[in-house]
Amino acid sequence: MRAMVYRGPYKIRVEEKDVPPIEHPNDAIVRVTRAAICGSDLHLYHGMMPDTRVGMTFGHEFVGVVEEVGSSVERLQPGDRVMVPFNVYCGSCYFCARGLYSNCHNVNPNATAVGGIYGYSHTCGGYDGGQAEYVRVPFADVGPMKIPEWLDDDDAVLFTDALATGYFGAQLGDIKEGDVVVVFGAGPVGLFAARSAWLMGAGRVIVIDHLEYRLEMARTFAYAETYNFAEYDDIVVHMKRITDFLGADVAIDAVGAEADGNLTQHVTTTQFKLQGGSPVAVNWAIDSVRKGGTVSIMGAYGPLFSAVKLGDAVNKGLTLRMNQCPVKRQWPRLLEHVRDGHIKPSDIVTHRIPLDQVTEGYHIFSAKLDGCIKPLIVPSGN
Ligand SMILES: NC(=O)c1ccc[n+]([C@@H]2O[C@H](COP(=O)([O-])OP(=O)(O)OC[C@H]3O[C@@H](n4cnc5c(N)ncnc54)[C@H](O)[C@@H]3O)[C@@H](O)[C@H]2O)c1
Ligand SMILES: [Zn+2]
Ligand SMILES: [Zn+2]
Repeated sequence: MRAMVYRGPYKIRVEEKDVPPIEHPNDAIVRVTRAAICGSDLHLYHGMMPDTRVGMTFGHEFVGVVEEVGSSVERLQPGDRVMVPFNVYCGSCYFCARGLYSNCHNVNPNATAVGGIYGYSHTCGGYDGGQAEYVRVPFADVGPMKIPEWLDDDDAVLFTDALATGYFGAQLGDIKEGDVVVVFGAGPVGLFAARSAWLMGAGRVIVIDHLEYRLEMARTFAYAETYNFAEYDDIVVHMKRITDFLGADVAIDAVGAEADGNLTQHVTTTQFKLQGGSPVAVNWAIDSVRKGGTVSIMGAYGPLFSAVKLGDAVNKGLTLRMNQCPVKRQWPRLLEHVRDGHIKPSDIVTHRIPLDQVTEGYHIFSAKLDGCIKPLIVPSGN
């Protein structure tokens, strides 16, 4: 089969690989019809993620058609159209039983904090991902869901991460009616978080980024008030100024460790890797909420982080909430919202890239060229 393969930082190729076999009776093999590149894949692409091994196939956002199932799979059969959450999880451990699918205890021998994620380094379990023609799906009775007929692949693929994560980010903000919500980052996660904030009763939604074309999408897709942080000496002071000098009720970090906005921190962390990334976005979130407010962190961070304004968070009495999204938990409500026309997820898709051109796809998305917001990967024959 054809598959995206990692060769080292900034080196992505398409190669021939063996079609993955069934390894366990509860595996399924899925023929991928759509995959996506996520902002999280950029952390791998940029060499930020420990134990990203040469030869690995990325891709944790994908949908497809079941090709083959193991002998104990009961809920799927060949021919079923399925969407697969980015989490690999067992469904029965202590954490899965409590809905913490992203924290499953049975799927990742290499870490205790995070569970399994498709195509996301050996730190997250070493599972090959879906930027390929075929992918092995463990615990096939647990994660995947048959795609309703009315939902097309371009929308369904966004359920498997970006849409669910944005919605989850807003949920963790614990938004009350009329709340002022500020979202840092106008990538796919931030855009969906901003749009979801309205569905949860927000009275005002503000989105901050420095890419004008993404702020434009925040205005047209998420109906948000937008600010370009590059145009202000101090975006936090501006935030205070426009919120009666109190701050927002809720801030959502949809940026993560590769944040721009502080040159020294960007260079020492993302270029020279003196620490696992830059804390600029999370600090802006902490500074931008009012006392007693909530900060929801969806952005990805390495395990060790310094220079986070924890003392300010303590002294302001903030609630900090965060996790990798337990994707399938968000699906019932999101399916209703999409079916009822409250969100059209594929409205943010800007590129459909043939799998054979995935190298270029990563470059365009990473360098933020050509107005790129969400690139989908389309294997040939689809
Ligand atoms: N928790 C989860 O389950 C989960 C799931 C998916 C993605 N993520 C993470 O969420 C983050 C966003 O994902 P994405 O796909 O939208 O990525 P993306 O790279 O497309 O978007 C990030 C955006 O943040 C902007 N930005 C950079 N510095 C900023 C700053 N200081 N303030 C405001 N905006 C800034 C960038 O210009 C960009 O538009 C990533 O860190 C990703 O790894 C987490
Ligand atoms: Zn992702
Ligand atoms: Zn589990």
